[in-house]
Amino acid sequence: MFGDISLIRSAAKNPATSPELTEDLVNSVKAKTTAVLALLRQACQQFPSITFANSLGAEDMLLSDLILREKLAISIFSLDTGRLPPETYELMQALEQKYQTKLKIYFPQAEAVEHYVQQHGINAFYQSIEMRKACCQMRKVEPLRRALQGKQAWITGMRAEQSATRANLPHQEFDAGNGLEKFNPLSDWHENEVWAYIRMHDVPYNKLHDAFYPSIGCAPCTRAVAMGEDVRAGRWWWEDPTSKECGLHVKKN
Ligand code: ADX
Ligand code: SF4
Repeated sequence: MFGDISLIRSAAKNPATSPELTEDLVNSVKAKTTAVLALLRQACQQFPSITFANSLGAEDMLLSDLILREKLAISIFSLDTGRLPPETYELMQALEQKYQTKLKIYFPQAEAVEHYVQQHGINAFYQSIEMRKACCQMRKVEPLRRALQGKQAWITGMRAEQSATRANLPHQEFDAGNGLEKFNPLSDWHENEVWAYIRMHDVPYNKLHDAFYPSIGCAPCTRAVAMGEDVRAGRWWWEDPTSKECGLHVKKN
């Protein structure tokens, strides 16, 4: 049942991560890249205190590449939950080396994790949705609050077609839950466009993507998907797809 990432290292390579770079695809990526850059530049001007939440997934590597190559005035942070797969840590290091930068990493509060584990057990998130949400709350949501403190806007790598919970995702919205502006510059990108960009610009990426992990979070809550399955089907796969978000992107009206 569990998301055994060690099983995948010998798996066949996922064709989705190496799309054929047809003229149409390349042109579409170029046009969308120009639009993303324009949006990011406008966002920086409008909101000088702006930050990018980098999960190190494929979409976020694309945005990191753009922000760092174009030297945009956008800080970048990652949330290290303490349960990420080793491939994600390898990628953090590869990104820092390639772009000669240092990621700002936020960790959960040690006391909260100690208390949860003492009370409920090291893998208690499998026991119930409440236990799962409490784990995401302390390992992701609370550190996100700290990362966004004092900021005017933040940027994510979310795409509308990733899941039912993200349909109609706008490029820009007010994030009432966190009290600041939110930009989703890749909301209209397709998966093959993301991968075409990564190949065209030789962007480093998480090797788990080649092994049918389109969406990668914490190791125990992520598994590979079957061909044709929803890209987020491998995240908290035991839960209902219409409600599975970790709390980073909850709507509050
Ligand atoms: S989520 O359910 O974990 O939030 P997903 O992995 O699809 O979803 O990530 C969506 C966006 O949330 C990412 O593009 C990124 O902006 C932000 N995000 C998710 N996880 C992290 C993380 N560990 N560190 C920083 N940002 C993150
Ligand atoms: Fe905890 Fe799983 Fe959420 Fe990670 S994804 S914070 S391990 S429940």
